Amino acid sequence: MIFIKNIKALVGVRESDRIEPLRGAELADMAVLENAWVVIEGDRLADYGEMDELGNQEQGWEQLQALESRADQIIDATGRFVFPAWCDSHTHLVYAGSREREFMDKIRGLSYQEIARRGGGILNSVELLHNTSEDELVRQAKERAEEIIRFGTGAVEIKSGYGLSLEDELKMLRVARRIGEETPLTVKTTFLGAHAVPMRYKGNQTAYVDEIINEMIPVVASEGLAEYIDAFCEEGFFTVEDTDRIFNAGLKYGLIPKLHANQMSFSGGVQLGVKYGARSVDHLEFTGPQEYALLAQSDTIATLLPGATFFLEMDFPNARAMIQAGAAVALATNYNPGSCPCGDMRFMASLACLKMKLTPEEAIQAATFNGACAMDVVDELGSITAGKRANLFITKPMSSYEFLPYAFTTPLVDTVILNGAIYG
Ligand code: NIG
Repeated sequence: MIFIKNIKALVGVRESDRIEPLRGAELADMAVLENAWVVIEGDRLADYGEMDELGNQEQGWEQLQALESRADQIIDATGRFVFPAWCDSHTHLVYAGSREREFMDKIRGLSYQEIARRGGGILNSVELLHNTSEDELVRQAKERAEEIIRFGTGAVEIKSGYGLSLEDELKMLRVARRIGEETPLTVKTTFLGAHAVPMRYKGNQTAYVDEIINEMIPVVASEGLAEYIDAFCEEGFFTVEDTDRIFNAGLKYGLIPKLHANQMSFSGGVQLGVKYGARSVDHLEFTGPQEYALLAQSDTIATLLPGATFFLEMDFPNARAMIQAGAAVALATNYNPGSCPCGDMRFMASLACLKMKLTPEEAIQAATFNGACAMDVVDELGSITAGKRANLFITKPMSSYEFLPYAFTTPLVDTVILNGAIYG
């Protein structure tokens, strides 16, 4: 048993067994317990409470002594905060090498789409991945997994999409599964065969969509390698019609839709995602009142990826308007080599506060509870709730919980506990 005592404040406490995402004003409603303790038994967050409940100096600290004598490990968190581990619901964590050459092109003024049109971008990563062995991919992805754990992330969604052939897509998904088996991260996987049109289908996109539908989806599903199906629904990538066909086929095999939507244009992606009951539509830089209203009336989560918006130097989506309309907003990193080579959820929370005017409470809950909803793990993760899995992090001493998104590069995550075990 691990006993964490004298916690300055326990952040993101939720006493209910709610599994629906937080929307509207609920997102800011974050419970914080001051001067608190937590007990971890096995992989569970068994109990928590206020230090004062454990007795007092006059009557004797009876319960405190009982807990301390039962504990295998006692952590004194004086001056520190305990947060639920981040739930990062959109990443491309499995990729080969890096693409800093494109970073230079970008500095020289080329846009993401121009780089892609010249054969760079996603297709660059496709070639690199093709020439990298499965074990080497695991090694590289594990380094990133370890990096994000140290940032305080406990659950992550990982997409394929740098394979674009059956063999390489399966290779990616197997690597993602191995990250879930060989690290303490909870991993959910998404088949993203429709990430870009591979060279061999240049000028014949429909034939590639046919291959995704007829050859890739059945095998991905039968091997149980993915829970979700995704597409990059954008001009120059996949049309609404392509995506419609892909989702239709995926649903027949039990794959739940998620969607790269409205990143570069008003593509109709949000409308399509909502029509298919997608778990989430992600990016959403190009959205307006019509999209907000649709999202507010649906169960589809609006996942914002401010790291990519920042890196691509675009205008940020109007998250305030989305929240006000009643949409369920989540935050994720989109960790990938092209548009966001960063897996730090705290930085996403900082960007959400600074660039999209979320309050720290909204940003924290969008990056934990709503992220967990966007990966269907909220029954286990995403909040400090008795009975949930013990996935949390302890900060360095801080003046307030708002200090975390405020001091946006200070290494403040001190101890990470995943599945009830201290990491590292
Ligand atoms: O979510 N937009 C499409 N996919 C990624 C970028 C992938 C890449 O450039 O390698 C994204 O931004």
